[in-house]
Amino acid sequence: MKKQLIILGMTALICGCASNNAPTTATIDVEEVVSGLSLEDKAHFVIGTGMVGFSGDDAVIGSTKDLVPGAAGTTYPLDSMQIPAIVLADGPAGLRIDATREGDEQTYYCTHFPIGTLLACTWNTPLIQEVGAAIGQEVKEYGADVLLAPALNIMRNPLCGRNFEYYSEDPFVAGKTAAAYVNGVQANGVGTSIKHFAANNQETNRMNNDAKISQRALREIYLKGFEIAVKESQPWTVMTSYNYVNGIYTSESKDLVQTILRDEWGYEGTVMTDWFGGKDGAKQMWAGNDMLQPGKKEQFDSIVAGVQSGKLDVADLDRSVTRTLNLIEKTPRYQGYKFSNKPDLKAHADVTRQSAAEGMVLMKNEKALPFGENIKNVALYGNTSYDFIAGGTGSGNVNHAYVISLVDGLKNGGYTISEEMKTAYETYIADCKKAREKELEEMAQKDPKNAMLVKFLPGTLPAEMQFTAEELAAQAEKADVAVITIGRISGEFLDRKVADFNLSASERTLVEQVCDIYHKAGKQVVVLLNIGGVIETTSWKAMPDAILCAWQAGQEGGNSVVDVLSGKQSPSGKFTMTWPVAFTDAASSKNFPIDQDPRIDMTNQGQKGDVKNVDYTLYEEDVYVGYRFFESFNVPVSYPFGFGLSYTTFDYSDAKIAQKGDAYEISVTVKNSGEREGKEVVELYISAPDNKVANKPVKELKAFAKTKQLKPGESETVTLTVKAADLASFDETASAWVVDEGEYQFLIGASVQDIKATLSATAKAQQTKVNDVMKPDVKMNLLKR
Ligand code: BGC
Repeated sequence: MKKQLIILGMTALICGCASNNAPTTATIDVEEVVSGLSLEDKAHFVIGTGMVGFSGDDAVIGSTKDLVPGAAGTTYPLDSMQIPAIVLADGPAGLRIDATREGDEQTYYCTHFPIGTLLACTWNTPLIQEVGAAIGQEVKEYGADVLLAPALNIMRNPLCGRNFEYYSEDPFVAGKTAAAYVNGVQANGVGTSIKHFAANNQETNRMNNDAKISQRALREIYLKGFEIAVKESQPWTVMTSYNYVNGIYTSESKDLVQTILRDEWGYEGTVMTDWFGGKDGAKQMWAGNDMLQPGKKEQFDSIVAGVQSGKLDVADLDRSVTRTLNLIEKTPRYQGYKFSNKPDLKAHADVTRQSAAEGMVLMKNEKALPFGENIKNVALYGNTSYDFIAGGTGSGNVNHAYVISLVDGLKNGGYTISEEMKTAYETYIADCKKAREKELEEMAQKDPKNAMLVKFLPGTLPAEMQFTAEELAAQAEKADVAVITIGRISGEFLDRKVADFNLSASERTLVEQVCDIYHKAGKQVVVLLNIGGVIETTSWKAMPDAILCAWQAGQEGGNSVVDVLSGKQSPSGKFTMTWPVAFTDAASSKNFPIDQDPRIDMTNQGQKGDVKNVDYTLYEEDVYVGYRFFESFNVPVSYPFGFGLSYTTFDYSDAKIAQKGDAYEISVTVKNSGEREGKEVVELYISAPDNKVANKPVKELKAFAKTKQLKPGESETVTLTVKAADLASFDETASAWVVDEGEYQFLIGASVQDIKATLSATAKAQQTKVNDVMKPDVKMNLLKR
């Protein structure tokens, strides 16, 4: 009977009679397929099809790379069994495939949505789900099957090069954001891969770095977001990270991949490695890492030899083959979906424009925003005003058709800008780009492999152009307001440098001089941040009249910014990370690779040495990551976690708490007390009894909600739920989640520092035992209160 179904399914595929909305009908007789495969077939099937030049030549099989050109990889096709290869493609800010194809007139551009950080800063999970749904539609219509996203590693340190792809320093926000994204994408009948599981918190030597983490910090901080995402969205796949945790590669860790992910959290999908992650194929199979992408010859050999020698039980291999067959069965490709290559890019441009505006964070506003009727001519400073950065580099990049710069955005919004300044900036930027291309060409001739890698790296942005006082005064006379954009670019392989956190000399001078001269002329200055990660603000934030963090806002960036500047949309984003005064203030900065050789990872592959913060990193700040540290140790910050202004103001009243069964229900009424429409994010933190003695963070986020758009005078009562079990901390001695008995405070805040109401309720002691796994293999000097 099952065999008949395979044939029916494949007939549908071949004759194309599966309609676009056909329910899943084709099924795989998994047992029969597995029993018909040779050991070599199975080993190929679990390692993917390889990558020319990187996998070991005889590991590269077939040519499935043309299924969707530019996709990161495919599974291995089992032609004799009529199991097609399925397509796996990046990434978090939208589908990453090649935009053009040789000999083909059609284009395959994808929508560049805002970076993950911006999405998280919306705190609007239905909106994030909508963005996910739009991304998923592009995945499906361009013929891909699994999107290699979302990325939800914790922003442990401000300088991690991939923070722009990530959501937060807080696992609750990260997990909730990821779950919403996954639910949106997967509603299209395509898969996701939540990544990078786990503790991939630095890029320096990422393939060989050993993250040494206490069991408590692992459970409370680094695994918690994944746990939430797995339980609330059932992602089709999970991608293990490159790094080791406590001496074992995550992709080779049975404790992580089987015991925690599957046994404790009930995960039933497929686990895959990150690209070329881990070493020992047999060990990865044994651990339960089902798919090794894109596959290496040595992994193939290790699996075959492992089974032959008895080191790897064939049942483990069969189990992984089975899981990947189960994955394939669900995919549009197996179901014979006839993709159109025509996703609704127009509709998605609207989705990205609106979502980007919602995640921007208003940091300061001294009556400069929104622009009033009197603002018509805008003087635009900063390279990225003219060359807006839509997103970061590497696998998180998207091949978009266009990016709306601030110039375009302002023009679309009915503002004028100085054409003279525009020409000057555009010429300067073009010259800088030419110089970089020349540099790359020269490198390509000398060292092609290096040049290819360097092309993938973010590179450096040109210094800011400088103006004389006379030039600035003349510009100020013609303009009604000045906008200065400060840009940053970062991406895979590299952590940001300390210099990238601080303003450069040319940026600082520009801000100082523009503010000085415009203020003398009685005009205001707005600073816009077109960045992917936090920067230093304390030393200069007093100068401008307003600061808006626009993040890297996707391809409609300029329009989204102008929607906020003009007041068409009131900003309602809040920070999902702390902005420290100095980079060194973050507790993790004591143990982070600072200004290391960027390409150490590429030159050092497979070498596990003993250089601190390169070969291994001690997570000695323990659970004191982000606001958990700043709040508990009273360290001043520039902008706290959860902070964000609006064009209106909100009053909080009638805060109540009720205990209902094993949960607490907290409600509060939020009233728009200002004069413009707006939405408010309500944050709920808990403070455990005797937290200082118990060495617990003074505040921990346990729930949040966003109001609807409230008109002036309008109110909404927001209800937040916290389960009693969620009050628990991880107790290493008992290897259990433990709720201490006593009185807990429930703090309702507009940010972690702006607490509007404090409620309290008691909790009974409870304990949930888990497996005593993933212990650190070194003694660490953990930070304690
Ligand atoms: C990245 C992953 C990505 C993969 C495939 C790796 O370098 O770390 O996030 O999904 O490449 O492109």
